[in-house]
Amino acid sequence: MNERARLAVFISGFGSNLQAIIDAVQAGELDAEIVVVVSNRKAAYGLVRAERAGIPTLYFPLKPYRDAGRSREEYDADLAERVAAYEPDLIVLAGWMHVLSPAFLDRFPNRVINLHPALPGQFPGTHAIQRAYEAFLRGEIDHTGVMMHYVVPEVDAGPVIISEEVPIYPSDTLDDLEARIHEVEHRLIVEAIRRCIRRGA
Ligand code: GRF
Repeated sequence: MNERARLAVFISGFGSNLQAIIDAVQAGELDAEIVVVVSNRKAAYGLVRAERAGIPTLYFPLKPYRDAGRSREEYDADLAERVAAYEPDLIVLAGWMHVLSPAFLDRFPNRVINLHPALPGQFPGTHAIQRAYEAFLRGEIDHTGVMMHYVVPEVDAGPVIISEEVPIYPSDTLDDLEARIHEVEHRLIVEAIRRCIRRGA
């Protein structure tokens, strides 16, 4: 792929991982271009980050579909249609809190990747950091981790692109662990995109 890889980044919240990608692109550390930032939540601060960086945004909430009695599959299919218009090479789910069905995924085979703040096979789903911390307090684990994986219909279960262990220390509060995990996330998400670009997404 001679021109820069075209990235669509999906968020639902604060967007610190989106910011890590924006910063890497602007620093010339990532040979890519973010062509759209998608959010399903209007209040997502990541939308402010995108606008500040001059990146097009797409706010696409599920609620109107639910209120109209329309299905998640219809939402997913319409979302895919809207996103396809940006011709993304890679779709990066960075704190995107909506499980995408094949109605979306089948439009972009092997081109949707997701950040999950746990090790492969550990704590799938939401609140993974908090659940790891609680397992640590019960003496069940002494570390957790972060992974980037290809998205398949099963939540947080697709082929792993990169993962890294994150230690938990006896003096840690939940905030300490979250800060340590986010630091690893910001590095891993850029590295994962780099690897996918090298593989031709
Ligand atoms: C990250 O921990 C991500 O793994 C999880 O939600 C958080 C998103 O953080 N899904 P941000 O919105 O990128 O700051």
